[in-house]
Amino acid sequence: MPFWDIYSYFYSLSLRNLFPYSRLLEDLNDTLDLKERERILDAGCGPGLVIEKVIEENKGKGTSITGVDINRRMIAYAHRKCRNLSNVELRVADLNKSLEFPDNSFDKVICSNTLYALGEPHTAISEFHRVLKPAGALIMANPKPNAAQDALIREHISTINRLTPLYRRAYHILVSLLLIPVNLVVIAINRIILGKGKAGRYHFLTEEDLRRILKEAGFTNISIKSCYAGQNWLVRAEK
Ligand SMILES: C[S@@+](CC[C@H](N)C(=O)[O-])C[C@H]1O[C@@H](n2cnc3c(N)ncnc32)[C@H](O)[C@@H]1O
Repeated sequence: MPFWDIYSYFYSLSLRNLFPYSRLLEDLNDTLDLKERERILDAGCGPGLVIEKVIEENKGKGTSITGVDINRRMIAYAHRKCRNLSNVELRVADLNKSLEFPDNSFDKVICSNTLYALGEPHTAISEFHRVLKPAGALIMANPKPNAAQDALIREHISTINRLTPLYRRAYHILVSLLLIPVNLVVIAINRIILGKGKAGRYHFLTEEDLRRILKEAGFTNISIKSCYAGQNWLVRAEK
């Protein structure tokens, strides 16, 4: 899986300094709406940025999170990030196959920017439905069919321009400049992802397709809105 291997080296450094991605993490956490003692599955957890955010924002709720990803390096980065957290378990797993969890295991399933890369979104979404407890919720972010990177870069720059006081703005300009080499690699990787999306090899689904697939899998109360500088759908659906 060399593609995700290469991405794993640059992912955290680039995305955690990108304002639209920080906003995406906030949107995912708000949509998750965690209650006390919930058990969460992060499907396609990458290097653990979503897990880190959810744990940080929900301290004291007794949340436990299982993160799975096909890529060993991504899981290794997630391990490093979560090494002091007793309530996080990480495993290598392929979401194109049946999940190794019994029915009704989780209160919530998160799948952020991973569904598009799977062979068959129907299969994964049916598995998410199976492992959710009754009334559990699936929270997903997935690229829109016409997703592009320019909007993310524009929103990042306009957020920096609005920052006050001046030293905060100067700090983020400096960080953005220092990260140019890293961001160029990430932009190149995202161009490949976007190319595969446009060619139909990755699933950049329309709102209608997402709604239909979720309904066919048995989900109800489906809400779909725009997020990530207008480039992703943010989905919440209940079992
Ligand atoms: C763009 S990253 C998203 C990471 C994280 N969810 C986030 O939002 O920051 C996509 C992740 O999907 C994982 N992935 C791709 N295909 C997969 C599969 N078949 N099974 C599990 N994970 C997969 C990749 O290894 C990568 O970590």
